[in-house]
Amino acid sequence: MSLTRKAYRAAILHSLDDPALVGVQASYQYFADGVLVVEDGRILALGAADEVLPTLPATVEVTHYPDALITPGFIDTHIHFPQTGMVGSYGEQLLDWLNEYTFPCEGQFSDKAHADQVADIFLKELLRNGTTTALVFGSVHPESVDALFEAAEALDLRLIAGKVMMDRNAPDYLTDTAQSSYAQSKALIERWHGKGRLHYAVTPRFAPTSSEAQLTLAGQLLREYPDVYLQTHISENLKEIEWVKALFPERRNYLDVYDHYQLLGERSVLAHGVHLCDEECQRLAETGSAIAFCPTSNLFLGSGLFNLPQAERFKVNVGLGTDVGGGTSFSLLQTLNEAYKVMQLQGEKLNPFKSLYLATLGGARALRLEDRIGTLQPGTDADFVVLDYHATPLLSYRIGQAKTFEEVLFVLMTLGDDRAVLQTYAAGRQVHCRD
Ligand code: GUN
Ligand code: ZN
Repeated sequence: MSLTRKAYRAAILHSLDDPALVGVQASYQYFADGVLVVEDGRILALGAADEVLPTLPATVEVTHYPDALITPGFIDTHIHFPQTGMVGSYGEQLLDWLNEYTFPCEGQFSDKAHADQVADIFLKELLRNGTTTALVFGSVHPESVDALFEAAEALDLRLIAGKVMMDRNAPDYLTDTAQSSYAQSKALIERWHGKGRLHYAVTPRFAPTSSEAQLTLAGQLLREYPDVYLQTHISENLKEIEWVKALFPERRNYLDVYDHYQLLGERSVLAHGVHLCDEECQRLAETGSAIAFCPTSNLFLGSGLFNLPQAERFKVNVGLGTDVGGGTSFSLLQTLNEAYKVMQLQGEKLNPFKSLYLATLGGARALRLEDRIGTLQPGTDADFVVLDYHATPLLSYRIGQAKTFEEVLFVLMTLGDDRAVLQTYAAGRQVHCRD
């Protein structure tokens, strides 16, 4: 096999650790003039240009971006592929929004041709927003997950997805049964898990739409396949929480429902967690489960404000999620913009280096993939983005006013969106070019 070595010169930034654990200064590495060397889909070297360039053979092509920032590709720890066509649906909070807009839209994914078409749109949208890995909900139809994995495999993306398991409290056209959901999930695991850079996630939608038999079988799948993921929703909306109490009166709290069916663990990612109590945070931390913080969704659906300091206090792993179509943007930069405001409304600050962490290494840790993605450490997958400081006239002018790199980063996360993503690379291959 031929080794294709390439180098990229720009300002380069990546996280080294969580600022909540090591402090801001020790949490990142920044090269004002850096070089990233890539070979055969992996990162070979990273360093200051004046140190790395002299080590490169003259044959290595160096692409120079004088006014751009290279960071790791963004990681979206919660998004719904079959909700692409209903982003921005008006007027309702969670439970009515599901019935009125979400379920009819997901119903269309029994048609494989439709799923193929949307998979293409969905992955293009991820990549043009700089997202190189996502943890994705399919619809209840296994065809939806086949469509998504087929498209992701063609691009050699690191992607995690699963078919929704949902056997009650949803329309007939959108429900499976405990047995069929088990059998279909198992077949998808056998077909896709570990193929290329793809992984499978067992996906009970949320406690109200699964019977006890279905939750039991979801737990059984996790025991049969210990390295697959579990994704679901938790404590997003107050009416939802009341409903879970009524459906599972014998459980201590919402999290205890999932705990009871042995669905918690190091590869479990629960979306939202807006209204968790301390006991639930404690248990999330003990089991190594992660929360996907989805600010645009939590604001759009009027769900509430995620308490990040509480999660930090209990050392719960937290990643960032767009939650499209409850969320309103595929852009993790825009998601960070809203995350900042969610913290402001609680009298808290979100440091830009913490934001970087949430969108990259924090997501990788939530997914237990930090040895492969989320940083630019040599040996990891060459998944990275090139962010353009001059993407818009305002961004360009505002960055020109900035006095520190921290200010540049914050402005990028406040004003930036898909327009700021000049190029996206996955496994060393360019998978998006804006211009
Ligand atoms: N809870 C159960 N299903 C969903 C969903 O599709 N979106 C959101 N935001 N919350 C949910
Ligand atoms: Zn969701």
